[in-house]
Amino acid sequence: MQKTEQTSVQAPAQSVLSGMRPTGALHLGHYHGALANWVKLQEQYRSYFFVADWHALTTHYESPEVIQTNIREMVIDWLAAGVDPERSILFVQSQVPQHAELHLLLSMCTPLAWLERVPSYKDQQANLSDKDLTTYGFLGYPLLQAADILIYSASWVPVGDDQVPHVELTREVARRFNHLFGREPDFDQRLGHCLKKLDVDDIAALKKSRASWLESGDVNARDAARRLLQHLYLTRSDRQRLAGWIEGGGRQLLLEPQPLLTEASRLPGLDGRKMSKSYGNAIAMRDDPVQLESKIRKMPTDPARVRRSDPGDPEQCPVWDLHKIYSETSVRDWVLEGCTSAAIGCIDCKKPVIEAVQREQALFYQRAEPFVKHPDHVDDILRAGSRIAAAAAEQTMVEVREAMGLSPRWV
Ligand code: TRP
Ligand code: SF4
Repeated sequence: MQKTEQTSVQAPAQSVLSGMRPTGALHLGHYHGALANWVKLQEQYRSYFFVADWHALTTHYESPEVIQTNIREMVIDWLAAGVDPERSILFVQSQVPQHAELHLLLSMCTPLAWLERVPSYKDQQANLSDKDLTTYGFLGYPLLQAADILIYSASWVPVGDDQVPHVELTREVARRFNHLFGREPDFDQRLGHCLKKLDVDDIAALKKSRASWLESGDVNARDAARRLLQHLYLTRSDRQRLAGWIEGGGRQLLLEPQPLLTEASRLPGLDGRKMSKSYGNAIAMRDDPVQLESKIRKMPTDPARVRRSDPGDPEQCPVWDLHKIYSETSVRDWVLEGCTSAAIGCIDCKKPVIEAVQREQALFYQRAEPFVKHPDHVDDILRAGSRIAAAAAEQTMVEVREAMGLSPRWV
């Protein structure tokens, strides 16, 4: 009994981290694809959400003037979505220069080929062919992202599927770094000291699981060891040593993160394609309610439904995708029945969607209002968050500098 009480207090909270480039006002695709998930995650994890302004410069270095206004607009939309600065750490990447330092240090030991083969590298160069992206910074984009993640020892990175290769690269970079720099000269001795401090039963359990994992590849045993480790009272460095020892290696200075795929509630744009500002088919989170109504009224429907008397097929209709997100079962049944029998018209069908989106947006407006009135309050939140983030980032950097043979900071 006593032990359970202790361990629940002592287990360090797992961290979640995600970032967005400052694109300005966000749309409903961002809300349902990412922000709604952030809002849930902040209840459960230590959550870092940040504005990736340096990442924006990798592609928009020729138009830097938009960054500042875009940051505020975007963060107001985070707050409008319900991201809570009392729970989450909200900050700006460039305010935490440690990200750049880690990026530089990781660049020393990251093979060029790893970056060249990241799919977004060639794709984006082709897609954004009006820009010159044959730059050093753009090639390093995913490595900077790896630094963003690793510097906070984030366990989970909520992202869309296009970002999974970046998290995968982050894992490889961490593994290589730990392999190269996690072998402390006195590792075995320190590990011994650390094991001596543990409860004998815990040591026995760890040793047994470790052996099953290393000798017969038993993944369950490895996971059991990791879970047990999570619940032990340990210093940060001892935890890193034990974590590495379980894997048969040295100290795990950098934690391998996992992507946390947002179950894609695919929100189509007004024309049925993916919602995107550049396609001009987006509904802003804080769109004008009157404009919103006319936008949805003009939305195309099942092309086979030419006349009101023609039955339709919801699966061929982007409005149906909106019902899947916004409507309860009873309304959806009404649509399925009414559309396929031509009992309802498309205007009838769109009405509940318009109302549901307006209700959602009313909440966004309400939460955003104080910040629209006082944009400096957004800055206050980001300033406070950046300080907290910098302190956490510096903790990792102290270890990284030492492991790479650099002296502690003098200035
Ligand atoms: N590359 C991400 C995107 O375009 C933004 C980003 C930068 C990010 N750093 C990150 C996301 C770290 C997650 C974690 O969406
Ligand atoms: Fe689409 Fe609804 Fe019209 Fe059917 S009735 S085609 S689901 S808008």
